[in-house]
Amino acid sequence: MKAVVWHAVGDIRLTDVPEPKIQEPYDAIVRITTSAICGTDLHFVRGTMPGMREGRILGHEAVGVVEEVGPGVRNFRPGDRVVVPSTVACGTCSYCRAGYYAQCDNAHPGGPQAGTVFFGGPEAAGGLDGLQAEYGRVPYAHVGLVPLPDTVDDAQAILLSDIYPTAWFGAELAEISGGDTVAVVGAGPVGQAVIACARLQGAGRIIVVDGLADRLELARRQHAETVDFNAEDPVEAVRDLTGGIGVDRVVDAVGVDAQRPSHGPAADALREQTEQFDHERDEAAPEQKPDGDTWVVGDAPSLAARWSVRMVAKAGSIGTVGVYPPQVQHYPFGEAFMKNLTLKMGNCNHRRHVPHLVSKVASGRLDPTPLITHWAQTQDAITAYEAFDRREPGWTKVALSVDERGAVAPGMGESAGTGSATTAGTNTATTNE
Ligand SMILES: NC(=O)c1ccc[n+]([C@@H]2O[C@H](COP(=O)([O-])OP(=O)(O)OC[C@H]3O[C@@H](n4cnc5c(N)ncnc54)[C@H](O)[C@@H]3O)[C@@H](O)[C@H]2O)c1
Ligand SMILES: [Zn+2]
Ligand SMILES: [Zn+2]
Repeated sequence: MKAVVWHAVGDIRLTDVPEPKIQEPYDAIVRITTSAICGTDLHFVRGTMPGMREGRILGHEAVGVVEEVGPGVRNFRPGDRVVVPSTVACGTCSYCRAGYYAQCDNAHPGGPQAGTVFFGGPEAAGGLDGLQAEYGRVPYAHVGLVPLPDTVDDAQAILLSDIYPTAWFGAELAEISGGDTVAVVGAGPVGQAVIACARLQGAGRIIVVDGLADRLELARRQHAETVDFNAEDPVEAVRDLTGGIGVDRVVDAVGVDAQRPSHGPAADALREQTEQFDHERDEAAPEQKPDGDTWVVGDAPSLAARWSVRMVAKAGSIGTVGVYPPQVQHYPFGEAFMKNLTLKMGNCNHRRHVPHLVSKVASGRLDPTPLITHWAQTQDAITAYEAFDRREPGWTKVALSVDERGAVAPGMGESAGTGSATTAGTNTATTNE
């Protein structure tokens, strides 16, 4: 089968690989109809999440059809349509049973302390092959697959694999409650989805910070207030917009590949910290293989964190879902301490959130589709990766159409890229689930 394969930092290829087989009783094989490229995948190719094995299939977002199940999987059969949550969890240990699926005690071959397991990541993330392929092996499939009703098509469901659960989780980490003023740092796919989830969780005002005009425009179409960090100092802008107080909550949806502003007052203000950021960048990415303007490592790993701590109000809270891998050692801890901030962070417990998000989509409360700005065919996956990596205008979220039959149901997908109507503009301020 064809799959997107990691060969080295700066080197991914579409490669012919063997089809996966059932290895354990709780495995399933899923024939993938739609996959997607995530900002997390970029960290592996840029070098900011080291430890990948050559030959690893990339990707942790997929919708597909169950092809085969192991004898332990009693709740799915071949032919069932499913979405695959990005992290892998046993469903049995005390962590899983408390909803902390990303901290499962059993999924990692390295034992309970070895960390979160997800598809298509470094060896430290369990060494599992990913889902940008024609077929995927899903361990603990009785827990790791979520069934899809026919009314939720691939274009909607693919965003429920990782992006919306992460956004929902991030908004919860930030402790958003009714009427709060929320800043979303980063307007990539995750940040865009945070706008919708924060609103569903009751946010009163949402301010989005990024440096890319097209992504800020998508945010504006969701009726977020936007701040361009290449035009204004984002901390000052947020303070101005909040009567000098700052926002109640921040969601950091950027992570380790944060960039410095290229111009404007914020760029001027940071000039003295050039050496500090260079040092942080080299610590974050010991190996870098940029190719012109592709696969360039973020040049200010702690900047989104620094801005988050500064733009939040005293005694406010920050939910961090942008990824910071273990080698990252810089966080403005003292500033956060002095402001009595609450900091929560981590890998999404996908399996906890995918089912309720599927029902929100099925019931029409949430339409994630507008976030997909590009559909690429498998044969064009590498070109699509490069355009997404360079953040070319319009390349906000790339779905991979692996199998034509699954891609977009008739009549659906027309709102792709419009960014509008993601939550029908409503502030429903209801329960958290
Ligand atoms: N915690 C989890 O479980 C989880 C799950 C999925 C994704 N993620 C992470 O979320 C992050 C975002 O993912 P994505 O797919 O949206 O990626 P992305 O790379 O497309 O988006 C990042 C956005 O941040 C913006 N940005 C860069 N520097 C900035 C700065 N200094 N201030 C504000 N914005 C800045 C970029 O312009 C871009 O729009 C990544 O780190 C990804 O690994 C985490
Ligand atoms: Zn992801
Ligand atoms: Zn578990």
